[in-house]
Formats: sequence, structure tokens, C-alpha cells
Amino acid sequence: MKGVIFNLLEDFITDGWGEQAYEEIFAQCPLQTKEAFVGLNSYPDADLLTIVAKAAAQFDISVSDAVRAFGKYCLPKLVAKYPIFVAGHRHPKTFLMSIDNVIHVEVRKLLKDAEPPRMFFVDPAPDQLILRYVSKRQLCPLVSGLLDGTAEYFRTPIGHTQTQCTQSGASACEFHLTFENEVGAFA
Ligand code: HEM
Repeated sequence: MKGVIFNLLEDFITDGWGEQAYEEIFAQCPLQTKEAFVGLNSYPDADLLTIVAKAAAQFDISVSDAVRAFGKYCLPKLVAKYPIFVAGHRHPKTFLMSIDNVIHVEVRKLLKDAEPPRMFFVDPAPDQLILRYVSKRQLCPLVSGLLDGTAEYFRTPIGHTQTQCTQSGASACEFHLTFENEVGAFA
């Protein structure tokens, strides 16, 4: 995973629980990486999960709740870093539908060796969306959190239910989304 995500994880823990908390958690993590995380470099996914698991244990929450909270935290930070990806989107649905064919395509160009997930969409109704997430990393709680962050960013509630998971043998993790306002309601 790219260093930018490790840097956001440090910010997430520091903003929520303070610098000392991050340093204590970091000191207890047996990481493969020995140097400071640099945004443009790539690091083992295992290191990210080690830090998240240690933080979850420290704060007495499940790893999946911690990953979800981290995803929610990440969305506005990613938008602040790459504002171009929300330009022109007035509704979360059009933004989400651009993840795979615009945002993560550009991410692959901007960040060497980036391996963002694949996302596939079915558009059954104006106020609904089916999102299929495919990644060897199997971080579906991160998707949930990013959806929460997207709803907050666009100030449009998004109901989302995960209906399939690769951890249970499905070929993709599937989320059914319902938007409180239809696309075009603001036009
Ligand atoms: C401004 C918007 C966004 C930007 C700039 C962005 C950028 C990135 C970057 C840099 C990575 C790391 C890739 C790597 O290290 O290999 C990543 C991973 C990821 N992104 Fe996005 N992203 C955005 C929006 C979203 C949204 C809205 C979702 C889902 C609803 C999403 C889902 C994910 C997931 C789940 C990963 C983790 C990697 C994996 O599962 O394999 N992203 N993204």
C-alpha cells in the first residue's frame, strides 16, 4: 500500500488520540518497514494491518470497526489532497461511479506501483447503486467507512448493506446503496 495511506493512518490515530498514543502503538508493532513512511513509496499491506490491529486492541474495538472508522476519516482527507476528483460531482452517486474508471485510474498514473481495488457498478434505480469491490486485500470494512465519509462529504445520507463478501467465498464483496436524494434532485 502507498505511503500516503500509512500517513493518513498516522494522522487518524494522532487526531483522535494524540501523538503519544500513535508513538506508543507504533513502538509495539513488529513492522517489516524500518524507516519513516513516505507518501510516494510503497510498503507491505501487512504493516498497515499490524498498526490498525494494535490500535484496535489499544482502544478496545474490533479490527473491522477500526478499519471502517479509518475509511470514514480518509475520504475528506483524500478529497482535500486530490480535489479534482470531486469537481463536477454534486451527488455522491456520480462521484462513486467514477472511482474505478477515473479516480483509481489516475491514482495508478500518479503513484507508481499503486494497486487500488477494482469496483464494478450496477445502476438499478436513480436512488440506488450496487457496488462490487474486488481486491486481494479484502478490505470491505474500508469500503464501508469510505461510503460513510462520502455521505458526510456530500451531506447526502447513504444507506449501505453488504450483501456478499469474499471472506465467505463470494467472487466480490457486494454493497447495496440507497441514497436519500436521487441524482438530479439538486439540479
Ligand atoms: C478522492 C477520492 C479517492 C482517492 C484520491 C483515492 C485514492 C486511493 C489510493 C491512493 C489508494 C491506495 C492504493 C495503493 O496503495 O495501492 C486507494 C485505495 C483504496 N481505495 Fe481509493 N481513493 C478515493 C476514493 C475512494 C472511494 C470513494 C472508495 C470506496 C467507496 C475507495 C476505495 C478504496 C479502497 C477499498 C482502497 C484500499 C485498497 C484495496 O482495497 O485494495 N477509494 N485509494
